[in-house]
Amino acid sequence: MNEIFNRASVRVFKDAPVEKEKIEMLLKAAMQAPSAGNQRPWEFIVVEDKKTLEQLSETDPYAKFVAKVPAAIVALGNTDEMRFPEHWEQDLGAACENILLEAVSQDLGAVWLGVAPLKERMDHITKVFDLPDNIRPYAIIPFGYAKRPYEVEERYDAGRVHFEKYTQK
Ligand SMILES: Cc1cc2nc3c(=O)[nH]c(=O)nc-3n(C[C@H](O)[C@H](O)[C@H](O)COP(=O)(O)O)c2cc1C
Repeated sequence: MNEIFNRASVRVFKDAPVEKEKIEMLLKAAMQAPSAGNQRPWEFIVVEDKKTLEQLSETDPYAKFVAKVPAAIVALGNTDEMRFPEHWEQDLGAACENILLEAVSQDLGAVWLGVAPLKERMDHITKVFDLPDNIRPYAIIPFGYAKRPYEVEERYDAGRVHFEKYTQK
């Protein structure tokens, strides 16, 4: 799958909005992800409002650039939908990876900013959106048109692969 091998985190974007159809494709890709027992515990907030992006940029010191991105998706878990609550973070992780890969397919760049399980970051986002108790912030995914071409690192490491049994290095 070319998208996997052409993806890298993009944090600097052109000052251009992203077409509604492309945003919809990112959300469709997210919701196509596998989840434990098909519980699909996700919800998403699409943010393009500058003020809200500025507030999101204060989630943690590494999120400052979010103030300058054209858009972001905030991925959330809904505890009411969690029949297998121990798996909610894996479910949301699969959805977020799908967003990153669909972004490549749509000629967009994106980056995953980790939120859960870090309480301070989760609390900040809960405050920004005044989220109810059953909604847990999981990640922020800023996206847009990459300002510059980016390099993709080749990472395959045959030393991490074992056949039939585990062999100590
Ligand atoms: C769970 C998770 C949390 C991450 N959190 C952040 C973050 O807070 N800030 C950031 O700039 N990048 C974050 N990233 C992106 C990683 O830094 C990036 O994926 C990693 O450096 C590998 O680079 P690549 O995505 O270009 O392949 C996160 C990625 C994951 C999967």
